[in-house]
Order: sequence, then C-alpha cells, then structure tokens
Amino acid sequence: MFGVKGQVCIVTGGAKGIGKAICEIFCKSGATVALWDILESGQQTCNKIIEEGGDIFFQKINITDPKSVDQGVAEIIDKYGKIDILINNAGVIKDRSFTKMSKEEWDTVIDINLNGIFLVTKAVFPIMKKARYGRIISASSINGFAGAFGQANYAATKAGIVGFTKALSKEGGKYGITVNSIAPGHIETDMTNKMPPEMIKSAVKMIPLERAGTPEEIAYAYLFLASKEASFINGITLHANGGALTI
Ligand SMILES: NC(=O)c1ccc[n+]([C@@H]2O[C@H](COP(=O)([O-])OP(=O)(O)OC[C@H]3O[C@@H](n4cnc5c(N)ncnc54)[C@H](O)[C@@H]3O)[C@@H](O)[C@H]2O)c1
Repeated sequence: MFGVKGQVCIVTGGAKGIGKAICEIFCKSGATVALWDILESGQQTCNKIIEEGGDIFFQKINITDPKSVDQGVAEIIDKYGKIDILINNAGVIKDRSFTKMSKEEWDTVIDINLNGIFLVTKAVFPIMKKARYGRIISASSINGFAGAFGQANYAATKAGIVGFTKALSKEGGKYGITVNSIAPGHIETDMTNKMPPEMIKSAVKMIPLERAGTPEEIAYAYLFLASKEASFINGITLHANGGALTI
C-alpha cells in the first residue's frame, strides 16, 4: 500500500481547508509534518492532530518572506536532517472583474500564489538534490485551465504553476526529485465559501458527480503523488474535479 511513512514533509497553508486535510492524512500515513501558515490557528490544527497521534509541528511562516522561509527550512534540517516532501498548497483569491481589478489585487495574488512557491521551492530544492530524493507537489486549479470570470490574476498563477511544474520536473528528474501539481475543481473550503452564491451554484452544476469535492478527496490525491510508489510520475498536473473539465 502506498504512503508516506517516515517522510519529513512541509505543507504550506496547512491551518485550514485542503492544507489541513493534507496534514491530517499525511500524519495518519506516518509522516512528520511541518505545518506552515500565517494564521496562528495553525497551532490549534497541530494540537488536534497531535491528540490523534500525529507527528506535526507549527511554524508561523509567510511564504512571501524569504527570511522566514529560510529560517523555517533551517529549523527542520537542524532537527530532522532532511525534507522529503514539499506540498506548495498555500494560495489566495482576490477576485474582481478585469476592468475593476487593481494592480494591488493582481500583485497580491501573483506574490503569494507564484512568488511564494518560487521562494519555498528554491529553499528546499537543493536539500532534495543533495539527498537525491524528493517529491514537490503544488496547487494548481481547474481555473488555471478553464479560466473563470473575475479571476484573471488567480487563473494566471494557477496556469503558471503548471509551467513551473513541467520546467522543474526536467531539472529534478536526474536527482530523483519528481515535480507535479494537482488541479482541484470546486472544493468546499473557506476560499470557495467566500464566493457569491450564484457562482458556487454554477460551479457545482458543472460537476457530473453533482456535488462539490471535499478537502480529504484532494488530500488523498496529494498522498498518492507524494508517495515513493508514484516514482515514475513526473511533470504532470493531476485533475481532481469530479469530471467538471476533462483534459
Ligand atoms: N477550494 C477550492 O475549490 C480550490 C480549487 C482549486 C485550487 N485550490 C487551491 O488549493 C489551495 C488551498 O485552497 P483552500 O481552498 O484550502 O484555501 P483556504 O483559503 O481555505 O486555505 C489557504 C491557506 O493558505 C494560507 N496562506 C495564505 N497566504 C499565505 C502565506 N503568504 N503564507 C503562508 N500561508 C498562507 C491561509 O492562511 C490558509 O490557511 C490554494 O492554493 C487554492 O488556490 C482550491
């Protein structure tokens, strides 16, 4: 059976939503998890997982701050000597029709969703390269492929992650590092609950399974790609959208 037993793993944006489910499921599978988030509630998420027997700790890290990222990585290396898995999950939306979208709304989304992934991966990649092993999985989105009204900024980042994934897979391959991404469809989290009700309705209507996805369903997709057994899968984007978009 595939899993991540004994692996040391960073999950960005792990305080809630899909990231929280990834932390829970990776811990159940025997990983040691560093939960990174800007929210203090990351500590509560960790406490709950520890109560259930998980090996997890919170690091309050803003992925757009290189100092904070480098320090977080150094602490993990000091304690465990390795980082096997990096889950680039943290991401935000700042939706606005393009005419009304401000430069600030554009920049914020690019900064967190793309520059953040650059910074974290840049800090972890050399460690994996030295170890000649690694799994890097980043959060793309169905809307990076299909686009969505009011999401020019978000869709640009999620399509960018697909290109990043493909390019880095060519560099990591010879060191035993696989680089993949996951493109979820509509998943029930705080991110989607913020959307206008009519937008949620029309998103769910597009799904042949006739429901939104759950964070756990996406976390299991991450678990598979993060496992040692997924060793020949490299450079892909796995679509987990209930059939809303077939590519
Ligand atoms: N929910 C969906 O339907 C859906 C669909 C496709 C893709 N995604 C992607 O999946 C990922 C997780 O989405 P979610 O729905 O769980 O979102 P969410 O808003 O519930 O959680 C995102 C987490 O990221 C953290 N975060 C934000 N900025 C950060 C920063 N600078 N540094 C560290 N942490 C930061 C937040 O504090 C939060 O805990 C995102 O990248 C999102 O774009 C979500």
